[in-house]
Amino acid sequence: MVKKNACVFISGAGSNLKSLINYSRSYNFPINIRLVISNKKNASGLIYAKKFNIPSLLINTKDKFSEFKALNELRKKKITLICLAGYMKILSDSFIKSYNGKIINIHPSLLPKFKGTNTFKRILKNKEKVTGCTVHFVNKKLDSGKIIIKKKFDLTESENETTLKQKTQKLEYRAFSEAINKLYMMS
Ligand code: GRF
Repeated sequence: MVKKNACVFISGAGSNLKSLINYSRSYNFPINIRLVISNKKNASGLIYAKKFNIPSLLINTKDKFSEFKALNELRKKKITLICLAGYMKILSDSFIKSYNGKIINIHPSLLPKFKGTNTFKRILKNKEKVTGCTVHFVNKKLDSGKIIIKKKFDLTESENETTLKQKTQKLEYRAFSEAINKLYMMS
């Protein structure tokens, strides 16, 4: 299998990054993670890049050349898939265009429901009976690109933000890997 070179963008804990790194160590998972990009110096997920000797790049999104610097590095490393895993910044239209159809994102709800942030709070407030996660292509509109995979579970009566996050993220790890496998099958 010829694996794709992938880059994972993070801003925080990086548990999805950790999971993707673990999957990618298997010979039949179709990507190798060659680069991690963070817009936060203190993103604790950067520790996984370090631990597994994956180069990382810190970008300052206040710098107008930050995306240009990222693109440069992505090209140098011959990256052909970008996985947004808790990356809390919106990418510019021109950046998305340069990697059109090659950027995917994981979102902690059943899209098109609950786009944007504070997802768990809104799910609980809305008294949803079922929730889950979605992996989708990234386009110009927030959380609106073509859906690759969704996974769901039933909420319990006693659900709170903590339990919801735990259950959703557990499902996210599988959803992300299945979505990447699916993309490979489609290519
Ligand atoms: C995930 O729940 C993902 O759905 C959302 O941000 C969270 C990132 O978590 N976009 P982690 O950094 O992967 O632990």
